[in-house]
Amino acid sequence: MRTEVVIIGAGPAGLLLSQILNRAGVSTVVLEKHSREHVLSRIRAGVLEWGSVETLRGAGVGRRMDVEGSMHEGVSLGFANEGFRIDFTARCGRAVMVYGQTEITKDLYEAQDALGATIVHEAMDVAIEEMAGQAIVSYTTGRTRQRVTANYIAGCDGFHGVSRRSIPADRRTEFERVYPFGWLGVLCETPPAAPELIYANHPRGFALASMRGPMLSRYYLQVPAGTDPAEWSDAAFFDELRRRLPHKVAIRLVAGPSVEKSVAPLRSFVTEPMRYCRLFLAGDAAHIVPPTGAKGLNLAIADVVYLAEALIAQLRDGDRRALDAYSDRALARVWRAIRFSWWMTTMLHRFPDQTPFDQRIQEAELDAVATSEAAQTVLAENYTGLPY
Ligand code: FAD
Ligand code: DHB
Repeated sequence: MRTEVVIIGAGPAGLLLSQILNRAGVSTVVLEKHSREHVLSRIRAGVLEWGSVETLRGAGVGRRMDVEGSMHEGVSLGFANEGFRIDFTARCGRAVMVYGQTEITKDLYEAQDALGATIVHEAMDVAIEEMAGQAIVSYTTGRTRQRVTANYIAGCDGFHGVSRRSIPADRRTEFERVYPFGWLGVLCETPPAAPELIYANHPRGFALASMRGPMLSRYYLQVPAGTDPAEWSDAAFFDELRRRLPHKVAIRLVAGPSVEKSVAPLRSFVTEPMRYCRLFLAGDAAHIVPPTGAKGLNLAIADVVYLAEALIAQLRDGDRRALDAYSDRALARVWRAIRFSWWMTTMLHRFPDQTPFDQRIQEAELDAVATSEAAQTVLAENYTGLPY
């Protein structure tokens, strides 16, 4: 098979890249290890920066998001069962959209079907065979080994994919921080506890109250790293959530049977550069943020915006400047998000080795955000998304 861009991974990064390229007349082949049903069963991120909203609209996948998503003009931070609100619109004139990653992926699949895009599912043992002179990627479907020849490879295969590891170890530098806790997430068909998201710091650990719709709540609890979700009954989860949320919200919390329960580890990770020869990394393949800043999906979308623009300039106009600048341009934004997510995580979680000094610093940090408009503006600018 021959194409212009072979894309490894059909998560939001790979599907969106394919969608933007196809609409610009650039041919793509997407290779995904799992089935479409599996990809669509993953419950992940829920908050879209305004730039992401506009990017999805511009890619022709905004219709359902604009009907079913909900615009949020603020967020609350909780501390020791009290809380305060940060007004995004007042602080920076922007807002966020709450619309699940699963729904975005579904919309992208439908849009790709309508364009007749090529997405190969259950593509096993994907291997990058050549990425210098030309780009060659091989994979197995059924019992047959197949090859795709392309001008470029987009590595959109997430943190555990093959793309990043295909770059020789001496040609990349990795930066990492692993946090000593995870998030236990529960999806529940009950009305959300509050109309906006609440990120709560509590002596028993962090909690987040989020949502997917008027009758679909998403809640998270900080748990020790390596926790098995089966250790937590629904009743125990909601009892603990009530303890950690602001009292005003906890009394209104409606518990219900979980329809999904999983634990996500927390990590900050960046690989540099995001390019090697004809291979370009985008999304979780190149970087991971802890979910506290709601940046993972948004960063993947920003990478795709830069990469799509650069690939189109090269393949349509023969202008390679943006492609050569891609890694530096993407990494500048990535490090801002890494910093913000690390800061939110540090301010809101209870660390197992937290000393009384660390504790007071954390309280002072929250107090600064609670009482300073300037501090709230910085948070609002970062949360709603830095400009591309
Ligand atoms: P992915 O969504 O990981 O997609 C990569 C795709 O590549 C997958 O479909 C995978 O099956 C495929 N793939 C992998 N290996 C191969 C291979 N060898 N060959 C072919 N295909 C391959 N972010 C938030 O902001 N909030 C959250 O609450 C949140 N929760 C998360 C929970 C979990 C368990 C995880 C893993 C991530 C979470 N994130 C969250 C982060 C956010 O979901 C990601 O940043 C986002 O999915 C990145 O999109 P992506 O397309 O780069 O990668
Ligand atoms: C959700 C996840 C996040 O990581 C976050 O910061 C906000 C919301 C969510 O799943 O709804």
